[in-house]
Amino acid sequence: MDFKEMIRVIPDFPQPGISFKDITTLLKDGEMYRRAIDALKERVAHLKIDVIAGPEARGFVIGAPLAYALGVGFVPIRKSGKLPYETIEAGYDLEYGKDSLAVHTDSVLPGQNVLIADDLLATGGTISTAVNLVRQLGGNVVGAAFLIELELLEGRKKLPDVEVVSLLSYEV
Ligand code: PRP
Ligand code: MG
Repeated sequence: MDFKEMIRVIPDFPQPGISFKDITTLLKDGEMYRRAIDALKERVAHLKIDVIAGPEARGFVIGAPLAYALGVGFVPIRKSGKLPYETIEAGYDLEYGKDSLAVHTDSVLPGQNVLIADDLLATGGTISTAVNLVRQLGGNVVGAAFLIELELLEGRKKLPDVEVVSLLSYEV
């Protein structure tokens, strides 16, 4: 079974014009979920990774199992107001709407090699904010890994100096 066949595309969600890539249909299938994480693991095998950072919420379901598979730690980058300790924050624009992300100041150590992981690269607003936060902490962003990339939104262009890996690509 092809990964794309496991992803449900919902037109006009959460607003008209957005073609939502619903990964819940893939996630609930244990074998396909594991195969997707294993495939991403192979795609980043050449990188030296100390820790994976993933943005809430869907970045957790990709980043945490990938970290487990690689035997490295996981750093949650959360929507503002959720983390209990000292944080740094950054606001950003989304494909739909605005949001703000935060990370604990002691989550990434200066000089650590960090892979950012998320389910989807669309405009790149989320991931470039995650990259900025990690870099503010002194982390070295060695790559960004996604299950899905929406090519026509050109999110990659926001990350010219980051190696971007995606398993599946859609136009929008
Ligand atoms: C979605 C998706 C990515 C981001 C991609 O997250 O999970 O994180 O949008 O869009 P971008 O490249 O244009 O920034 P969303 O903010 O909808 O929240 P969620 O992960 O909590 O569902
Ligand atoms: Mg997200």
